[in-house]
Amino acid sequence: MKRIGVLTSGGDAPGMNAAIRAVTRTGIAAGLEVMGVRCGYAGLISGELIPLGARDVGGIIERGGTMLESARCLEFETEEGRRKAIATLRSKGVDALIVIGGNGSQAGAWSLYKMGIPLVGIASTIDNDLVGSDITIGVDTAMNTALDAIDRLKTTASSHHRAFLVEVMGKGCGYLALMVGIAGGAEVIAIPEASCTPEEIALGLRSAYDRGKKFAIAVIAEGIKHKTSDIAAYFKEHRERIGFDLRVTILGHVQRGGSPGAFDRLLATRMGAKAVEALVEGKQGVLVGLLKGEMALTPLEKVAYQKKPLDLGLLELARILAR
Ligand code: F6P
Repeated sequence: MKRIGVLTSGGDAPGMNAAIRAVTRTGIAAGLEVMGVRCGYAGLISGELIPLGARDVGGIIERGGTMLESARCLEFETEEGRRKAIATLRSKGVDALIVIGGNGSQAGAWSLYKMGIPLVGIASTIDNDLVGSDITIGVDTAMNTALDAIDRLKTTASSHHRAFLVEVMGKGCGYLALMVGIAGGAEVIAIPEASCTPEEIALGLRSAYDRGKKFAIAVIAEGIKHKTSDIAAYFKEHRERIGFDLRVTILGHVQRGGSPGAFDRLLATRMGAKAVEALVEGKQGVLVGLLKGEMALTPLEKVAYQKKPLDLGLLELARILAR
């Protein structure tokens, strides 16, 4: 193995740059040439590769986003698209690939591996839904970003005795909402794993006022059955009966932006180094993750198309803490 490629795919996550930097510099230290693939699998198909030297990845560890840029690539989901990607790797002399990304990206990596490409994945997504890593790159920073917003909302909510609905990202996974809800002291948490109606949300917030609270916060995962706009409409329709005003804040992509915190920089650095080590040792078709505090390799076969289960006991704890 002489030359490796590295790409970032799917939704970006704060810390991806730290992983690119670690892959590049540990790769060079191991005597390898490193090529960066621009725009994820789309760049692999169109052949957009750039050589990465130690200086090319300077000054990026503190930057959010990804210097290689990212994309969601429908063409790569077809066998023809993957064949084009493989042709690029062959023509550029790339012997092995490192894929930094979340669920969809690692499913793509698994397909490519099955077609004969030596590769290793790195667990990176703010959703924290990947099997094979207790926590993924970007989660910690995204949680802190959401918490900062909730802390700010609480000050204005208290001034007006209002309730706030705060929607956080997470696709079909409630991890971000659950953790941010607990850490932000939310009165109500609604996640896809435990369904909840607009009326139940209203009752949860109402009972907070009944217990003497001056304001109340509901943290809602974007993937729950009822859309945030539908919940807001329900509150409007039943305003008199519910008895308080509701305001809605959708945090959206704000959670993916900004500078990665110390945890994500270190996690991504360890994962990048581990991915290169794995390739050098001939370990392929695996995802690098953090399990019980240690770097661990999990076969992509066990990762692809799976969703990490959530500890629903924490939802009950959140209810008790919201008293
Ligand atoms: O997977 C990360 C994520 O931010 C999800 O939480 C969200 O549902 C999705 O990506 C948004 O994707 P896009 O940036 O393509 O709109």
